[in-house]
Amino acid sequence: MSRREAGPASDGARGGRPGVAVDAVDLGRTYDLGGTSVAALRGVSLTIAAGDYVAIVGPSGSGKSTLMHLLGGLDRPTGGRLAIGGRDVATLDAGELAKLRNETIGFVFQSFHLLPRTSAVDNVALPLVYRGIGGRRRRTMAAAMLGRVGLGHRLDHRPNQLSGGEQQRVAIARALVTDPVVLLADEPTGNLDSVTGESVLSLLEDLNASSGVALVLVTHDREVAARARRQVVMRDGVVVVPPADDPGTPTVVPAARRGPEIVDPAPSAEPRRASGSDSGHPFGGSGGATGATERRGDTPAAGDRCERCGGSTGTGPGSGS
Ligand SMILES: Nc1ncnc2c1ncn2[C@@H]1O[C@H](COP(=O)(O)OP(=O)(O)OP(=O)(O)O)[C@@H](O)[C@H]1O
Ligand SMILES: [Mg+2]
Repeated sequence: MSRREAGPASDGARGGRPGVAVDAVDLGRTYDLGGTSVAALRGVSLTIAAGDYVAIVGPSGSGKSTLMHLLGGLDRPTGGRLAIGGRDVATLDAGELAKLRNETIGFVFQSFHLLPRTSAVDNVALPLVYRGIGGRRRRTMAAAMLGRVGLGHRLDHRPNQLSGGEQQRVAIARALVTDPVVLLADEPTGNLDSVTGESVLSLLEDLNASSGVALVLVTHDREVAARARRQVVMRDGVVVVPPADDPGTPTVVPAARRGPEIVDPAPSAEPRRASGSDSGHPFGGSGGATGATERRGDTPAAGDRCERCGGSTGTGPGSGS
């Protein structure tokens, strides 16, 4: 599927500085836990260029997932400046941010986050609901994307009828069906055996090479990280080794923190996320702002729940026309 087919015209980055997809300057994220505050990010600057391939590494709790959620507009920084597709997220309301996310970002998570009672093709079609694309066309686009990830023969399988690697490929197809500028993958191979993980990683790399989608990958695996064109090493909420050729990353590297990369062998599965975030559904909706769209329920199965938006995705009659 071409970018033109999926949505807005693309220059490879869609607005802002030419060739720059996401621009983060001195980003901070502090969680307020009723009296105590947790500084998960303490001034991170990073530029993701169109077509980039960046690995983010660092020990458990260093802020990798927090950063990914900010870069993808799933959460908002409490400090610094963040531009996605050239638009300063501070100037956007929840609905505008959700729309920008749907047009620009694809997410892949360690634990897939597929709707359990919904077929592969309808899981992949879900982000297209928020684009207002009709049911038949959604299905055609989703089926084509599943074909690209090698699952053209599994369209009507539900997640529990698929292997782990197949489920992750469905999740990748869902992330890419909107033709995003940036694909954010948070430990996408973390729940997969090494052979399956390798095939998922190769798929992501092929898509990066063939479609030009920028790939930002969180991993605890040194060998995986070494395959990226650039590595960002995080520790304690700061970037300790910025990518050498990142024009947006200041070279403020605390001397005491400089050192060999630490790879935590037992990372947590998924981060906890801030309550009260207004960012809503990772695949395009903004919770309340697009509730009417979600309630149409013409993609997810009846009563299926979306783990990422915390609510029922619909009670409608399965896939649309
Ligand atoms: N919603 C939250 N409320 C409070 N603290 C949080 C929340 N989410 C994350 N944190 C804290 O922020 C820090 C960074 O968390 P984050 O999930 O970004 O780490 P990570 O680098 O992704 O770790 P892992 O490799 O284990 O996934 C941690 O200390 C974590 O406890
Ligand atoms: Mg994490």
